[in-house]
Amino acid sequence: MATLSKHGHKNKHLMAALALIGLYKVATTTLSYSWSFFKTFLRPGRNLYKRYQGGYVVVTGATDGLGLEYARQFALKGFNLVLVARNQEKLDATKAELSREHQDIDIQLIQFDFNKPYTQEGYEPLKQAFDNIGDISVLVNNVGTAEFKMFGDQDLEPMNRMIQVNCIPQVIVTKFLLPRLLARSKEQNKRTAIISVSSLLDYVPLPTSAVYTATKSFNKTFSDVLRKENGEHIDIMTILPGPTKTNLMKREGGLIATASQHARWSLSDVGYNSESFGHYKHCIFRSIFKMPLVERMIISSMLKAQKEQEQ
Ligand SMILES: NC(=O)c1ccc[n+]([C@@H]2O[C@H](COP(=O)([O-])OP(=O)(O)OC[C@H]3O[C@@H](n4cnc5c(N)ncnc54)[C@H](OP(=O)(O)O)[C@@H]3O)[C@@H](O)[C@H]2O)c1
Repeated sequence: MATLSKHGHKNKHLMAALALIGLYKVATTTLSYSWSFFKTFLRPGRNLYKRYQGGYVVVTGATDGLGLEYARQFALKGFNLVLVARNQEKLDATKAELSREHQDIDIQLIQFDFNKPYTQEGYEPLKQAFDNIGDISVLVNNVGTAEFKMFGDQDLEPMNRMIQVNCIPQVIVTKFLLPRLLARSKEQNKRTAIISVSSLLDYVPLPTSAVYTATKSFNKTFSDVLRKENGEHIDIMTILPGPTKTNLMKREGGLIATASQHARWSLSDVGYNSESFGHYKHCIFRSIFKMPLVERMIISSMLKAQKEQEQ
């Protein structure tokens, strides 16, 4: 009898411990989902104009897609703009459109093709152009290009272009502007920000994107380390968009966001988070794709479609 009651006691303790662990798990999961819900749907964005006290926002790749939408959003908030892209006609058209809608802001254009390796002479015009611009408060490292193909079928030229255009401008433009952003923050006591555009693919790498995804992981890692070095003085944020309808990703519908939706949602996280997936569709996308079974199903269906294409 004595042994039985001893076991009975032990069982009771065990049950109580398990119940506590279960309760703890339920509470933390509920809290975590509630927090995500609040952050995604209810929390109002910061007043970025007030936070950074105006100034110029530099956007690379600003004549189309996400870059154009980031520029539109910052213009709406009253910031001056520096638009950097390779095509002068598109730059002029973008400036004309934004100036018509926002007559009170100043817009500077820099025509520059990033598809070339770094040399001091080659990048000097870009540096000079930045040096001629006044109070820069925010840098958006957005420029990027993509080609989606199985690695074995892809030519070296587009691979090289992706490495060049997706990685090198982030390093060089940040190198040019970091001292000014730091000085603005430390000496003038005015906050600054560096926002870099990576991709959801960094979290969920998929076939046909080996080089592209690797460049996007570069963007994220670069940003992460920069934050560790300078986060005390500069808001350093990585944006990880899911599929968004632009020239680079022409599909639409379903969980694909528009560039304008994505830009609005991701900028509402600036100043709060060090990472943003932007639109809620992309948060859903990430949660679904991260389920191991779903991930495996998607990968095998992509590989099957690829094989059928080859036949
Ligand atoms: N769309 C998506 O689903 C998606 C998802 C995840 C991440 N992203 C990332 O978001 C960023 C923007 O992509 P997007 O979809 O908005 O692309 P996009 O619509 O093709 O726009 C790219 C912009 O960059 C400019 N650009 C391209 N190559 C350039 C070069 N060599 N030198 C200077 N400017 C150049 C383009 O100018 P032109 O007009 O002259 O070409 C355009 O203004 C990229 O970093 C991309 O990796 C996009």
